[in-house]
Amino acid sequence: MARGYFITFEGGDGSGKTTQIRLLRPYVQAMGYTVVCTREPGGTPFAESIRSLLVTDNRHNVSAACELALFIASRLHHVQNVIKPALQRGGVVLCDRYMDSAVVYQGFAGALGMDRVIKSHEALMGGDLIIPDATICLDIDPNIGVLRSQGGNKNEDRFENKPLDFHRKVRYGFLQLAQTSPRYTVINAHQDICDIFEEVKQIWEKLTDEHRPR
Ligand code: TYD
Repeated sequence: MARGYFITFEGGDGSGKTTQIRLLRPYVQAMGYTVVCTREPGGTPFAESIRSLLVTDNRHNVSAACELALFIASRLHHVQNVIKPALQRGGVVLCDRYMDSAVVYQGFAGALGMDRVIKSHEALMGGDLIIPDATICLDIDPNIGVLRSQGGNKNEDRFENKPLDFHRKVRYGFLQLAQTSPRYTVINAHQDICDIFEEVKQIWEKLTDEHRPR
C-alpha cells in the first residue's frame, strides 16, 4: 500500500508539541503534501467525547487500567476514521500524542507496566495499530512544562493536576522509551521555539529522504 507519513509528537505536558505542529504544517504543505493535524485523545467526535471524560471530568475515581481502556477505544476510532484514511490517500498526519503517551502515562507513571500497555493495544487494535514513521519527543523539565501548560492558573485537567512526581516519571518514561527504537528523536524543549523547529525540520527531511527513489 502506497501511503503517506505518520508523524507523532510526544512529551510531557507543556512541552510545546502543539506549537511545533503548527509550524511544521505549512512547511510540509509547501512541498505539495496534504496535511492532517490531529490530536489524542480525540480527533473524531466520538473520541472527543471520550477525551472530555478522561481529561476534564474530575468527578470519578478512575484507575490507570480503566483510563487505558478508554484511551484505546478513542485511539481505535481515531485511527479507523481519520489516520488510516488520510495515510491511504497519501497524506501526512501530524498527531499530537498517540500510543506512546499511553505507554508512558498509564504504563510507566501509572504503573500498569509498559509491556502490558503495548500488548493491550496489539490485542484490541490488531491491524489498525499503525506504528508512526517518526516520533518526536519534546523533553522538558516538568517544573517548567506543567506551569507553562496551566498558564499560571490551576485548571480542571486531570493529568496536569497530578503530583510533580508523576510528571517526573512521565519525563523519565519518555526518555527510556526513546531508546527502544530509531523512530524516536528526543529534542531539548528548553530551547527557543525556532531552534526546536530547526530540529523538527531535520527529522522531516531525513524521513522523506530515506523514502526518495534513488
Ligand atoms: P492535553 O490537554 O491534550 O495535554 P497536552 O496539551 O499536554 O498534550 O491532555 C491530554 C492528557 O492526557 C495529557 O496529560 C496526557 C494524557 N494522555 C494519557 O495519559 N494517555 C494517552 O494515551 C494520551 C493520548 C494522553
